[in-house]
Amino acid sequence: MPRKTPETLRSHRWFGANDLRSFGHRSRALQMGHRYEDFMGKPVIAVINTWSEANPCHTHLRTRAEEVKRGIWQAGGFPMELPALSLSENFVKPTTMLYRNFLAMETEELLRSHPVDGAVLLGGCDKTVPGLLMGAISMNIPAIFMPAGPMLRGNWAGKQLGSGSDVWKYWADKEAGNITDAEWREMEQGIARSFGTCMTMGTASTMAGIAEILGFTLPGAASIPAADSGHTRMAVSCGVACVDMVWNDTTPKSILTKASFENAILALMAMGGSTNGIIHLVAMARRAGFELPLSEFDRLSHSVGVIANLRPSGEFLMEDFFYAGGFPAFFKQLLPLLHTNEKTVTGTTLAERYQDARIWNDNIIRPLDRPIAAGGSIAVLTGNLAPRGAVMKPAAAEAHLTQHTGPALVFDDYESMMRAINDETLDVTPDHVLVFRNAGPVGGPGMPEWGMLPIPKKLLKLGIRDMVRISDARMSGTSYGACILHVAPEAAIGGPLAAVRNGDLITVDVQNRILNLAISDAEMATRLAQWVPPKKPASRGYIRLHGAHVTQADEGCDYDFLEGNEALPEPEIH
Ligand code: FES
Repeated sequence: MPRKTPETLRSHRWFGANDLRSFGHRSRALQMGHRYEDFMGKPVIAVINTWSEANPCHTHLRTRAEEVKRGIWQAGGFPMELPALSLSENFVKPTTMLYRNFLAMETEELLRSHPVDGAVLLGGCDKTVPGLLMGAISMNIPAIFMPAGPMLRGNWAGKQLGSGSDVWKYWADKEAGNITDAEWREMEQGIARSFGTCMTMGTASTMAGIAEILGFTLPGAASIPAADSGHTRMAVSCGVACVDMVWNDTTPKSILTKASFENAILALMAMGGSTNGIIHLVAMARRAGFELPLSEFDRLSHSVGVIANLRPSGEFLMEDFFYAGGFPAFFKQLLPLLHTNEKTVTGTTLAERYQDARIWNDNIIRPLDRPIAAGGSIAVLTGNLAPRGAVMKPAAAEAHLTQHTGPALVFDDYESMMRAINDETLDVTPDHVLVFRNAGPVGGPGMPEWGMLPIPKKLLKLGIRDMVRISDARMSGTSYGACILHVAPEAAIGGPLAAVRNGDLITVDVQNRILNLAISDAEMATRLAQWVPPKKPASRGYIRLHGAHVTQADEGCDYDFLEGNEALPEPEIH
């Protein structure tokens, strides 16, 4: 039995009333050429579209929006497309993370202020996924996520190229003089061959998988390549499904539970997913009323190895993953570890969705007992250098660096770091620990993906490809190396990273989850008392608001005024 009737739809307050204002709403819908029977008594479905000409990962969302609308019409709904921030990971500087909460707020307010009963959320490029979902969770009207889908595999000189990961890899070769400028230019033309998101297990693929395991997508939607005709059919089906969701009142908070977030953490670990996923999951969970302490990620990371054989941790790309069975096959492998009764937007449980999935290639989607990397793929380190935690992907680091003590080489800003890194007379050895600070949520601002600090040129030429690097920044999900990230609290607000000096000994002990600076508590206190805060990134505008309200990495970097589980009031209609 549908739980909603035409009279109890949210949009009825705009279109169904018989007053002065509803006259205006109806007459303006008619002005756009719609007939009464198109919208009266119909679920109005927002199509929140993050398409823009600045976002190559979303090029196809202009047409996908039309396909979603086709499904909405077919199911008896009334579509209303609303554009939202596009957050192109490529072009937005210093980082899209500065605007994730902006998109979350925009999504919530678009839905709150318009006459809509449900939403299809079109996104995929990294921060668009958590931005859209956080807003939809807070608004809590029926919402389904339509993932943009990964682009086709890259191709150069007979090799398959992966977004990001292979850029970092070959850049190191270029800097070491092993790749010519002409070859580099050829790679530039071959690495991004179609619309769609990065096709490695970077942040976009990680977040798409997380959206699916949380129940926000149609089954299998998160791994369909953007250029596959199945992606178009999935878009149409999202429109159809959302109309049903409105009648059934399937809201985000009716499907999200603490257990579904635990599932998402397990999936993140088993994907070998991006460390960014941690921050976004914490933020999304808090919007739904659940706390996810970093210790929970560390605990659950021991329960499962990495079973998706995808770069940067493994060998393959998202197109291969799709042919191997995609996320349905991946979740089927994971079922024994999941809370399988958790609900999804279509009303089915995870078990019902995935128990019959087929696995076509178990080298790409491994069984639990044959992972490509053992449990503990993401480690949470704490110590006097990171009292509230820091994260690392030990599997992506050279093994000897997971147990290391070395002298610090400290950088306070990006420009001076790059100058030093490129200076072949720099006094640095492979044992040094590179420390980069003032790049956290407040200091960055927005915690840019600068955490995979470049290896000094002098060492690259000696064949060194990994070193311990510590920062309060993030790193791209396509990056790798012994990078310790998200140090909290950050240096720009007086966290202990601010106290480090060149030559101080730093110990990284992944097995015991320790990150320590070899100075006494008294010395730490003295140094921090003498600390002078860096200049604020901006004195006015959005960046000022961001700095005043963003929380630290262990809390999800949400804005303090957007957090929480309380619904905002419905707008007055006068
Ligand atoms: Fe858009 Fe990677 S740049 S997903």
